Amino acid sequence: MDKINFTINGEQYSLSGADVSPVTSLNDYIRHHLQLHGTKAMCHEGGCGACVVSVQRTHPTTKKEETLAVNSCLVHILSCHEWNITTVEGVGNRGDGYHAIQERLAMFNGTQCGYCTPGWVMNMYSLYKSSQKSLTTQQVENSFGSNICRCTGYRPILDAFKSFANDTEPSSKLQDLEDLHKTKCMNSCKRKCSISDEWCFIEKPFQSLLELSVAGGRWYKAFTVEDIFNILRREGSNNYRLVAGNTGQGVYPIKTEPKIYIDISSIDRLKDAHSDENLNLGAGLTLTETMDVFERWSTNEEYKYLLQLREHVDLVAHVPVRNIGTLGGNLALKNKHNEFPSDIFLLLETIGATVGIIKSDMKISDVSMSQFLKMDLKNNLIGDVKLPPLSANNLLRTYKIMPRAQNAHAIVNAGFLFKLDQEKKVASSNIIYGNISPSFVHATRTENNLIGLELFKDETLSKALEILEKEIIPVDLPPEPSSSCRKHLALGLFYKAILSLAPAVNPRYASGGTTLKRLVSRGEQTFETDKSLWPLNEPVPKLEALTQCSGEVKYACDVYTGPRTVHVAFVLSDVCLGEIESFDESEALKLQGVVGFYTAKDIPGKNVFTPSDVPWQDFAEEILASKKISYYGQPVALIAATTHRLAVTAANLVHVKYKKSNAVPVLSIQEALVAADKEQRVRQEVAIKATSKGSDTRHVIKGSFSMPSQYHYTMETQSCTVAVTSRGVAVRSATQWMDIVHVAVAQTLGIDENRVEVSVPRVGGAFGGKASRAALAACACAVVASRTHRAASLVMPLGDNMAAIGKRSQCDARYEVGVNDEGVVQYANIEYYVDCGYAYNDTSAPDVASILTNLYATDTWNINGYSVLTDKHSNTWCRAPGTTEATAILEHLMERIAQVTGKDPSEVRISNLAQKHEAIKDMITGFKREVEFDDRMVQIKKFNEENAWRKKALKLSIMSYPIGYSYNFPVTISIYHADGTVAISHGGIEMGQGINTKVAQVCAYSLKIPLAKVTVRGSNSFISPNSMASNGSITSDCVAYATVKACQELLSRLQDAKKDLNEPTWEETIKAAYDKGVNLQASYMTSPNDNLVGYDVYGVCIAEVELDVLTGNHILTRVDLLEDTGVSISPDIDVGQIEGAFVMGLGLWTTERLVYDKTGRLLTDRTWTYKPPGAKDIPVDFRVSFRRNAPNPAGVLRSKATGEPALVLAVVVIHALHETIVEARKEHGYRDAEWLHVDTPYSVENILEAISPKIGSFKLN
Ligand SMILES: Cc1cc2nc3c(=O)[nH]c(=O)nc-3n(C[C@H](O)[C@H](O)[C@H](O)COP(=O)(O)OP(=O)(O)OC[C@H]3O[C@@H](n4cnc5c(N)ncnc54)[C@H](O)[C@@H]3O)c2cc1C
Ligand code: FES
Ligand code: FES
Repeated sequence: MDKINFTINGEQYSLSGADVSPVTSLNDYIRHHLQLHGTKAMCHEGGCGACVVSVQRTHPTTKKEETLAVNSCLVHILSCHEWNITTVEGVGNRGDGYHAIQERLAMFNGTQCGYCTPGWVMNMYSLYKSSQKSLTTQQVENSFGSNICRCTGYRPILDAFKSFANDTEPSSKLQDLEDLHKTKCMNSCKRKCSISDEWCFIEKPFQSLLELSVAGGRWYKAFTVEDIFNILRREGSNNYRLVAGNTGQGVYPIKTEPKIYIDISSIDRLKDAHSDENLNLGAGLTLTETMDVFERWSTNEEYKYLLQLREHVDLVAHVPVRNIGTLGGNLALKNKHNEFPSDIFLLLETIGATVGIIKSDMKISDVSMSQFLKMDLKNNLIGDVKLPPLSANNLLRTYKIMPRAQNAHAIVNAGFLFKLDQEKKVASSNIIYGNISPSFVHATRTENNLIGLELFKDETLSKALEILEKEIIPVDLPPEPSSSCRKHLALGLFYKAILSLAPAVNPRYASGGTTLKRLVSRGEQTFETDKSLWPLNEPVPKLEALTQCSGEVKYACDVYTGPRTVHVAFVLSDVCLGEIESFDESEALKLQGVVGFYTAKDIPGKNVFTPSDVPWQDFAEEILASKKISYYGQPVALIAATTHRLAVTAANLVHVKYKKSNAVPVLSIQEALVAADKEQRVRQEVAIKATSKGSDTRHVIKGSFSMPSQYHYTMETQSCTVAVTSRGVAVRSATQWMDIVHVAVAQTLGIDENRVEVSVPRVGGAFGGKASRAALAACACAVVASRTHRAASLVMPLGDNMAAIGKRSQCDARYEVGVNDEGVVQYANIEYYVDCGYAYNDTSAPDVASILTNLYATDTWNINGYSVLTDKHSNTWCRAPGTTEATAILEHLMERIAQVTGKDPSEVRISNLAQKHEAIKDMITGFKREVEFDDRMVQIKKFNEENAWRKKALKLSIMSYPIGYSYNFPVTISIYHADGTVAISHGGIEMGQGINTKVAQVCAYSLKIPLAKVTVRGSNSFISPNSMASNGSITSDCVAYATVKACQELLSRLQDAKKDLNEPTWEETIKAAYDKGVNLQASYMTSPNDNLVGYDVYGVCIAEVELDVLTGNHILTRVDLLEDTGVSISPDIDVGQIEGAFVMGLGLWTTERLVYDKTGRLLTDRTWTYKPPGAKDIPVDFRVSFRRNAPNPAGVLRSKATGEPALVLAVVVIHALHETIVEARKEHGYRDAEWLHVDTPYSVENILEAISPKIGSFKLN
């Protein structure tokens, strides 16, 4: 039997089909078979970039070596024949030396939690190698649509990578690289740290059919088209799948595996590109190759149009998918799933291409694209596509409108081709749209109607739009944006195309014919640093940065726990309300490798993961529902199996019988407030009575405001491993709250707390989602470990994580506010409601009130706040809980007051400030001056007058973010006598916020030793018992405080040792202390007894946006953010926190949508449908500065916290967008005397709904 040969990091591997399962991906192989954990995984569908690796291979046709980034989660291991694969471990490491890409990313502070980092490194590595070191900043900026980073806000990553471009200014950061290298690469390097590494090539290209037996079937690698049909003749064509790039499963997950796989990725003929009367492109060309062909052929006059197509294909998926995903694969997906908004199909249909189908007799027949849609591809091969030459009288435009800038499928895509006759009248036209309905392709009536008409006349345009409006009837395709949004887009794009093609239009309309063009982004970070304090206040890279960039750091599930480890998966309920009647696990247990099935009855102790012995947990949430089902996606059982994939597959085979409730699920605050059982669903948390009332009410404002929910989108999902020890269990959890995991696991297993040890190496992003919720995964994993007496590992698949785990609570506010002519509030009645899901745990409702009453003078305000129960997962904290909704409500009110009084919104804010916040006044006025606010407003006004279909706006937001201390943060510091180095362990959790680096800086500063002498270990419940959750931005402060105290204790102990020495060095002092029997370990715990006083963090943010009125897309042109950081402990870390928080807030308010169906099922539970911002969604120009000369008298070492506050300032973006929407509506004749309500988030859908375009306004002159 044949074997597949490949190398990974230079080592040869040879696999037969029996060595792997038919579904083993390259990622599975790297992580689970080879235990190379540097390569990560999250979504397993090509949507997040955590898994990217680099491949070098010989191109099947050109025979040239090529280097490409691929998503290892999408590639089948058996497709890797003759590939040389490099993982992050092969790029550089501590032993061999680091690669320049790793070093620069570390030096530019491009890592926080580090979970996404190896994927970024490998994408850049492949890009750099394949470009042969000839890159532009534009290319770099454009190449990372594949990679999501939830922590950094992307700016530092892009800066680091752009430093490799040839058109960039050398950065001062590069000069520091040498220091970084010295500090971190302790071993003498055996490996040359250059970017021109040697490759180990697999020689001996195999060119004859390969056949491998895999469990239940066969895997073939074909080299000719004939091979394919010979196989099908032999095996039959009932149950086979062609494997080209295998990326299609990222769009349509494969539910049942076929018997026969035929890898067609190395068939020469399918990679051919040649011309006869058409340009013929082999169906096996990848999308990247197709883009290259388009570029090459566009120099021919009749194929000039290919440049436009190339630009469009650049918006399809992202680089790693385009590197292996093929034309044929894309078209086959469209053939099977007509609703798929394939850009490739759209482009080909627009230009009138045909598809060459090869049949089993090897005959080729050309079919039109519409015939292709209807044909059965069984036993047929897509051979090529034929693109016609187009003369200059063919006018072409294509568009793709997406929810974010890159890596998203189209909300609507459109292609327009108008053929004009000699009199410039329409001879024929193609008007094509995607994502209107599964069957809609052409706007045939509009096309026909245009024939014989002059295209660029207003009369023609309005007639065409009228017909098009009737002809386009989008069907509801949840969770796709609404049908009316898609209709607005279809009409707007038609108008845009005509505007852009018309030789002359009214100058006010002209920019409507262009698409938003984003410049290469840039950033500035301005802060002062006092060298006399260094290493405190010194901008340093994160301690772990290099090891994150090399994949050497380990996360909870990155350790090998032995061959007998079982993998755990949840069985989730697929009803919202009801009772469990019975389970049928027989199908699941039949699968070889499934070890066990467990329900609530198998839990040895308490079935609760929210124990009342820890704070904030009022309600006992079950680990596994024992009977009652409270939400769709609730865990009801567990499967244990020998692999993760098998466990997940088996979990889906468990049949649960429910007695369904007749009650209609209550899924929103609005529904809860009118529900029959409202009394049981609404709990008042806050009632604040006004102590005075103004007497000058001139304007009364009434309305409502809603802050949406948000998924945390940690790149590492909830995960945990539990090992059974002689004492009890060792739990390695991805939690930001060790104590709840500790208590909950002990109680779940019914064992003493001292038999449980929890350790947290680090967390791959948390944002509040891994505080109380991480205990669910830990308890479930512990149950399986205790039942099987085997190590257990649980990594929640993204879909399960999104379905089962709660998110940011939605918050709705209703208000009535009376103000005088100056905009000063005379009275306010505010009610707000927080959606807790099915349990009150972790509600942010009490906090909302304390922030609502912080910034402005609120003695005239009545505030009533409520927690609301809905039939959804129990929501939880999410970065800046309480403060985000409260600040958003306040900022909304200030904007409304400004609108009703006609006053300057900044002045309105200043007039209402509480006296204690005078400081913020100067920040507002000074910052506005600095960013030339007034001049820019004048330019924007002019721009808006001159452009009907583009609108700009500039807005300001402010915050006073109250920081309160939280307690029980132990720190233990050990000094080692032989070399005086220091190790710290603390009760905080390193989850990307840089706590370890800050603590090391504080320790080095306090002990007056170099930072290089200090290391910080992962957290552990033996050394740091009873620690509080790392949240509320305050943990770094608390741990820093305990560090100072422990250092003081150590220093006082060292006094005695120093007595007999003359100006001893640190090392001499330590040696002497050791000889004298001084205890060189000290601990301290920050507690309420320290009487630490809270403080406010001030901030001002000014944002400029530009809206494309016809598409609802926008660009965040510039953001200036001023934050009050006190004397920052670690300025680069704080810049990272500020930028990352702002971009997470940006996602909350613009791109992220959670859509549930009526049954309570979450529909946006994948990377395909849920869209946090990507690298090209951030501000084009992002300037962050720290408030000068403002040490914090209350903070630890005069610093302030930075983890969350900047998130709340991101609300400024919706105010700027609101203004552009109002301006846009004027073009349609609306005169909004009243405040215009716009639903949040300000997505394309909600923006277009708010604009409510009228086609009557679409004119040429
Ligand atoms: C994250 C992500 C984002 C994406 N975004 C977009 C997007 O914005 N727009 C868009 O249009 N597409 C998008 N795609 C789809 C992408 O273009 C396709 O996945 C890719 O082109 C499929 O090619 P493949 O070679 O990987 O196909 P495979 O996955 O190998 O195959 C897919 C199907 O096609 C069949 N097939 C393959 N080749 C042939 C052939 N020659 N003849 C007959 N059948 C064949 C296979 O049997 C299989 O059923 C996205 C995909 C991913 C993963
Ligand atoms: S795990 Fe591969 S892209 Fe997300
Ligand atoms: S550093 Fe990128 S996701 Fe955390």
